[in-house]
Amino acid sequence: MAKKILPDKKGLFYPTEEIKKRSWVNNKKIYEEADKNPIKFWEKVASELFWKKKWQKAFEHKPPFFKWFLGGKLNITENALDGNLPKRKDKPAFIWEPEPTNEKPRILTYGDLLKEVNKFANALKKLGVKKGDKVGIYMPMIPEVIISMLACARIGAVYSVVFSAFSPSALKIRLQIIEAKVLITADGYYRRGKPINLKESADEGIKETMVKKVIVVKRVGNKINWDAKKDLWWHECVKNQSENCPAVAMNSEDLLFILFTSGTTGTPKGCEHVCGGYMVQAYWTGKLIFDLHEETIFWSTADIGWITGATYSCYSPLLNGTTFILYEGCPDWPAFDRWAQIIEKYKVTVFYTAPTAIRMFMKYGSDLVKKYSFNSLKLLGSVGEPIDEAAWNWYFQKVGKGRCLIVDTWWQTETGGILITSLPGIGPFKPAFSGLPLPGVRFDILDEKKKRPPIGEQGNLILLPPFAPGLLRGTYKDPKKYLETYWSQYGKKIYFTSDAALKDKNGLIRIVGRVDDVIKVAGHRLSTGEMEAVINLHPEVVECAVLGIPDKIKGEVPIAFVVPEDKSPCPALRDKVINQVRREIGSIATLKEVYVVEDLPKTRSGKIMRRILRKLSTGEELGDLSTLSNPESVGKIQIIIKNANKI
Ligand code: WTA
Repeated sequence: MAKKILPDKKGLFYPTEEIKKRSWVNNKKIYEEADKNPIKFWEKVASELFWKKKWQKAFEHKPPFFKWFLGGKLNITENALDGNLPKRKDKPAFIWEPEPTNEKPRILTYGDLLKEVNKFANALKKLGVKKGDKVGIYMPMIPEVIISMLACARIGAVYSVVFSAFSPSALKIRLQIIEAKVLITADGYYRRGKPINLKESADEGIKETMVKKVIVVKRVGNKINWDAKKDLWWHECVKNQSENCPAVAMNSEDLLFILFTSGTTGTPKGCEHVCGGYMVQAYWTGKLIFDLHEETIFWSTADIGWITGATYSCYSPLLNGTTFILYEGCPDWPAFDRWAQIIEKYKVTVFYTAPTAIRMFMKYGSDLVKKYSFNSLKLLGSVGEPIDEAAWNWYFQKVGKGRCLIVDTWWQTETGGILITSLPGIGPFKPAFSGLPLPGVRFDILDEKKKRPPIGEQGNLILLPPFAPGLLRGTYKDPKKYLETYWSQYGKKIYFTSDAALKDKNGLIRIVGRVDDVIKVAGHRLSTGEMEAVINLHPEVVECAVLGIPDKIKGEVPIAFVVPEDKSPCPALRDKVINQVRREIGSIATLKEVYVVEDLPKTRSGKIMRRILRKLSTGEELGDLSTLSNPESVGKIQIIIKNANKI
C-alpha cells in the first residue's frame, strides 16, 4: 500500500520517495536546464518522436506569428499508432464504456485501432477527401469519434470536432466557417438513460452549408430521417476497405485540426493547431504531468468536443502507448457513483476531471466513496476552472485517500496542451494553486501598466517567447481576431491569456479566473457575448446583458438582464429567452435566471455596467454609482431581483 502524503510545515505537499522513484522526471534541475535554452529543450523532447524528415530550424518568430520545427515532416498517427506496433499490437489502446450498464464495453487494441483508422481513412479517400480538405465531426463519446479524428489526420484532412450537445445552429456556423464538405456523425447516443437523436440535429445543422456527404454511425438504432443522396452508413463505408493506408507526410506547420472556442464577440473563433508542435506538446505533457507509463490506465472524463478531450482522451495517451478509458455518458448515471465504479472496474491509475465533477461528487456525500478503496489510483488531475481548497481537500482525502498528488493543470483551447502545473515527481503542490509553469515555458504576471504586481496580488497571466510548440497559430479565416485577442494588450511579442492570476512567494501560480467575457459553466467555456448576440435576435428584446454568477456546483452559471420592446411584456418572455439560448447554443448554456427590466445601468458613454449588475445579483455592496447616466435603474432592478427570488 502506498504511503500517505503529508504536508510540510508550510502546507506544501511533495512526492514521497516511492512516487519520485516511479516518475519520469524527479529532479528539479530540469527547470534550470530548460530555462537556459527552451528551444533546445523542446527539440530534445521532439526527438523522442518519429519524424519522416527532421526539422531544419526549431523556432522562428515573426511577431505575432511563430513556427516550430520548420521543415520537419511527420504524421501524428504514425507516432500514435504504427509506432506502438509490434510491441503493443495486442495492448488495449482504449476501452470504451457505454452508458447503459447492460451493454458490453468495447476494447480496441493498438492493432485493431490502426486497422479501423486505415479502413475509415480509405473510405474518406473514396469519397474524395484529400489533404487539406475540411471535415466536420459531430459525434458523441463512441469509439468511432477517435477513429474519425485519426483517419482524418492519417490522410491530412483538417477536421473540426463540434461538441455533440451543441445545437444545430452552433454546428451550422462552425461548418460554414470551415466550409466542410463531409460531416461525420451518429444516429444518436445515450444521455442519462435516454437515447438522444443526434442525426436530427445534424440534419438541421448542415442546412445552408457546403456539406455534401454525411457519414452516420449506427450507435443507438433510433429512427432517423435518411437522405439517400447525402447520407451514408459508417459500416457500409468501411466494408471492404483495405486495412492499409499510407500516412501522408505532413509539414510541421500544416493544420491538424481547428477547434472552435468562445471568445469575447458573438462568433466563435477557430483555433488552429498544427501537426508538429501539437504532437510534441500532447506527447510530452502526458508523459511528464500524468506520468504515463506502460501500465498506466488513464481516464480523462472530458468530452471529445473540448480541447481536453482532443489532447488527453485521444492523442496524449496514444502517443505514450498508454491505455485510456472512453466513457459515453454522465459520471453520475445510473447511480451517483458510476464514476467510482468505472475507476474500480478498470483499475484506473490516473483520473483527470473538472472541479465541477468533484463538487458534484462531494454533494452526494463522503459515505458514497467510503466503500471504494481506489487502490489502483496513483495520481489525480483537475482542469478547466479554479479548484477551491475544500474541493481540493475532498478530492485528495476521499478519492486519493491521501496517497495521490493532484495535478491542477492550467491551459486553454489555444495552448493545445497543459502549460502550468506542479510535476508529480517534483512538487510542490499547494491546494488551490496550479503550481509552476512547465520546464521550457515562460509565464509572467503583469498589471495593466506592464509592471509585476507584488507577491500575492493579482495581475494578468501572460506567456513569453518561445511560447510552447502547441500554442495556436491563428484563428481560422480571421487574422484580425488573432491579433486583437492575444497580441494587442502587451504587444505582439507577449501572449495574453485573458486570465487573472497571482504568485505566492514560492513562485507557485494561482489562477483567479477570466478577465474577459468568457465564463466557465461546469468547466465548459462559454461566451456571454455570444449569448447576448443570440438574445438580441429575439424580436421582443431591445437589449440585454449576460453575466456569470457564482454557483456552488457548476462554478459559474449565466444569468440575463433583458430590456423588452414592449413596456408591459408578455409574462412568457423569460421562458422565451431561455429557450432561444438553449436552441441557438445548446443546453449547457441554459440561463439560470432572466430578469426583465426597464433599463440597464450605463455609463455616460453608453456602456452597460455589468459590474453593477453582478453585484446586484449577488447582493454585494454596490459602491460608487456616480458614473452612471441612469442611477435610477439600479433601484428598480433591485426590486425585480428581490421579487423574483421570493417566488
Ligand atoms: C480556465 C480548458 C483554473 C481558465 C483546458 C482558462 C483553469 C480557461 C484551469 C480555458 C485551472 C483552465 N485552474 N482555471 N487548472 N484550467 N482554466 O479553452 O480560465 O475550455 O483560460 O480550456 O479555463 O478554457 P478552455
